[in-house]
Amino acid sequence: MRIFVTGAAGFIGFHLCRRLLDEGHVVDGFDGLTRFYDQGLKAERRALLEARNGFRLHVGMLENEGALAAALAAAKPEVVIHLAAQAGVRYSLESPRAYVGSNIVGTFNLLEALRENPPGHLLIASTSSLYGAGRHIPFVEHQHTDQPLTLYAASKKATEVMAHAHAHLWRLPTTVFRFFTVYGPWGRPDMAPLKFVNAIEAGRPIDIYNNGAMRRDFTYISDLVEAIVRLIQCVPRPAEEDVSDEPALSPVAPFRIVNIGRGAPVNLLDFIDEIEHQLGKRAIRNYLPMQKGDVPVTFADCHLLERLTGYRPQTGIQEGVAALVDWYRSHGPLQPA
Ligand SMILES: NC(=O)c1ccc[n+]([C@@H]2O[C@H](COP(=O)([O-])OP(=O)(O)OC[C@H]3O[C@@H](n4cnc5c(N)ncnc54)[C@H](O)[C@@H]3O)[C@@H](O)[C@H]2O)c1
Repeated sequence: MRIFVTGAAGFIGFHLCRRLLDEGHVVDGFDGLTRFYDQGLKAERRALLEARNGFRLHVGMLENEGALAAALAAAKPEVVIHLAAQAGVRYSLESPRAYVGSNIVGTFNLLEALRENPPGHLLIASTSSLYGAGRHIPFVEHQHTDQPLTLYAASKKATEVMAHAHAHLWRLPTTVFRFFTVYGPWGRPDMAPLKFVNAIEAGRPIDIYNNGAMRRDFTYISDLVEAIVRLIQCVPRPAEEDVSDEPALSPVAPFRIVNIGRGAPVNLLDFIDEIEHQLGKRAIRNYLPMQKGDVPVTFADCHLLERLTGYRPQTGIQEGVAALVDWYRSHGPLQPA
């Protein structure tokens, strides 16, 4: 297939593109190579992708309608996977405007551009942050998500609802996935797993919010990619043609939302213990109160993913952290984000 991946030089996009290329697809990436975290890391991912047959990168910002239209016209994709976004919960407190540009205007531009030449399936990244401080645990796709705690979550809610309107109006089959704390090799140095590895190895203290009383549904990158690849085949049909009575499927559009998590939250302090164990080094721990906008627990209900794809993420933190640390040791230090 011809597949268009926005955010291809990002953490998840890079792994996804590699997997799609392994399977023989032709992949057009689109990425603005933004300055959010170590740009050298994006350049390295880009170079590895560009060395592969069947891949090319269109460098451009989603906000630039002309650049986006030209890339889509060249790619003529059958499937579009939209991962490019301003990510990060904490950064959204400092720089909320970046989220409006990339996630709201950027997603709107992509949706409009696809009206002309709709692909067979559009898949879009959203986030577990939308569940906010939801008391219903585990988080299930059809529970309400209209009380976001941060502008990051609010901008992803906007992404989801704009996509729903386009799916309804233009009959564009759309799957939204909500990811849960993804980690692994080539990860994001602004996120706790790699930030901790980077700091502990350099002998710098690590900040531990809410005094460590947090649980996260850590999801290992290759498990996440496996789930995405399987979901490409699960094209949502309009609810009136669907006999499954699935509550996450829209009653008025070929549109569904699917959690991709492991469904097994881990205590943050256990995760840090595992990093220390794998590095053979103790962390200097700086215990801090809860941060604004943060949530104490994330926990995915994975039944829908499993029902649709026959798969659910399996990699536990021992294996996942070992792979992260191995990669880090072969790669070397990163600029802290
Ligand atoms: N990593 C996680 O744990 C996680 C969790 C929940 C949701 N997500 C979502 O998954 C997607 C991918 O996340 P990631 O971790 O790979 O992040 P990332 O920051 O590594 O990748 C995003 C990529 O998009 C590009 N980009 C950002 N804004 C752009 C714009 N306006 N125009 C063009 N390119 C732009 C960046 O240069 C970057 O390469 C994002 O939508 C993110 O919100 C990630």
